[in-house]
Amino acid sequence: MKILVIGNGGREHALIWKIAQSKLVDKIFSVTGNGGINKIAESVNLTNNFEILDFAKNNNIDLTIVGPENPLCEGLVDLFEENKLKIFGPNKKSAQLEGSKEFTKEFLIRNNIPTAKYFSYTDYNSALKGLDDFKYPLVIKADGLCKGKGVFICKDKDEAIISLNKIFLDKIFGEEGNKIVIEEFLQGFEASLICLVSKNNIVPLEPAKDYKKIGEGDIGENTGGVGCISPNPLLDENTEKELNTIAKKIQKSLEKEDLAYNGILFIGFMITEEGAKVLEFNVRFGDPETEVILPRLKSDLVDVILKTMNNEISEDDLQWREEYCLTTVLCSGGYPDKYETNKEIVGLDKLDKDIIVFHNGTKLEKEVLLTNGGRVLSVTTLADSLEEARNIVYENIARIDFDGMYYRKDIGKI
Ligand code: AMP
Ligand code: GLY
Repeated sequence: MKILVIGNGGREHALIWKIAQSKLVDKIFSVTGNGGINKIAESVNLTNNFEILDFAKNNNIDLTIVGPENPLCEGLVDLFEENKLKIFGPNKKSAQLEGSKEFTKEFLIRNNIPTAKYFSYTDYNSALKGLDDFKYPLVIKADGLCKGKGVFICKDKDEAIISLNKIFLDKIFGEEGNKIVIEEFLQGFEASLICLVSKNNIVPLEPAKDYKKIGEGDIGENTGGVGCISPNPLLDENTEKELNTIAKKIQKSLEKEDLAYNGILFIGFMITEEGAKVLEFNVRFGDPETEVILPRLKSDLVDVILKTMNNEISEDDLQWREEYCLTTVLCSGGYPDKYETNKEIVGLDKLDKDIIVFHNGTKLEKEVLLTNGGRVLSVTTLADSLEEARNIVYENIARIDFDGMYYRKDIGKI
């Protein structure tokens, strides 16, 4: 088979690394490659959904797999389906589960799926008035896609007004902030379940714990994720069962509302004293969750995806390695705010042979590997214990260097 993978971060490098191990695959193309991906896939420079469609048609691509949310929310799957091409992911209508917070909240409430209480607003003055209906802290969310930056947790009314000003008056998210959701703040710990979802079933992958804050001890700004471990030691058996039950209810509700699709549903939960509640959906694989989940998957990923697309997937199709997997993301200094790129990366040739380095933001120029993003490399290993995985990853990171390199030293310390 010929496979096309959209997206060029660490998640896509992990997908391509795993796809390359499939006995079903002859050739992989990547839009648009990076310093690591280019060693196992052919990079193609396509800049919009129409160019992607033309490429898939002209090159007899058998299956397209989409990493990031934007092409899905812009209707890439609709375009492929109209042209009878195989693609893994939701159409534009179902992608609203990630693309619109209000759409998701309405879906959850309508289907009695536990979630925080909320109201939505389309103008500044009613949002300002609405603040009085909530206790503090409260959470303000821009409705649309804001690269993970659209959520404000406000401890008092002053902070809430500042956030409303930023969204409605300064328009920092442009049109994506034309609507907002205000919701109650949920206390607890977070857990994510990334699931294969088909028109008749939902099958969770192994759970992972993402480290979202830039600073050690979980302080500072939110990021896309700067470290990850799988399995998630915080999840006990009962909680996992509860999450699986909610996931099943979500799948049934998608089916009932004609929103079911063949792809990934990433469910973000807050585990509260009253039980698990849904915080958000993503309709794609997580990053860096993919970098720790796929190394643990023994089964052939392409076979698993094809079964999901044929509505034949079941838990028995997934075999897992028992080991822990840990990844620490090496970042450009300054991330998630301003950072510099084009710094030479050295030391990758000195790593232990069972270390897996997924490239998030790199490029190869005249044989020199350079930084090319805020998140640069995900240094990953499997080991029998979390402690051992931590030690191996940090020993190896000490051999890597680039100007301004920053990473959290507490990934895997729970
Ligand atoms: P979201 O994009 O909706 O998942 O929000 C991003 C992050 O904001 C989540 O991972 C949580 O850490 C936090 N968050 C979102 N909604 C709430 C809430 N209702 N209560 C507490 N924290 C929240
Ligand atoms: N790591 C969280 C996400 O991919 O959205």
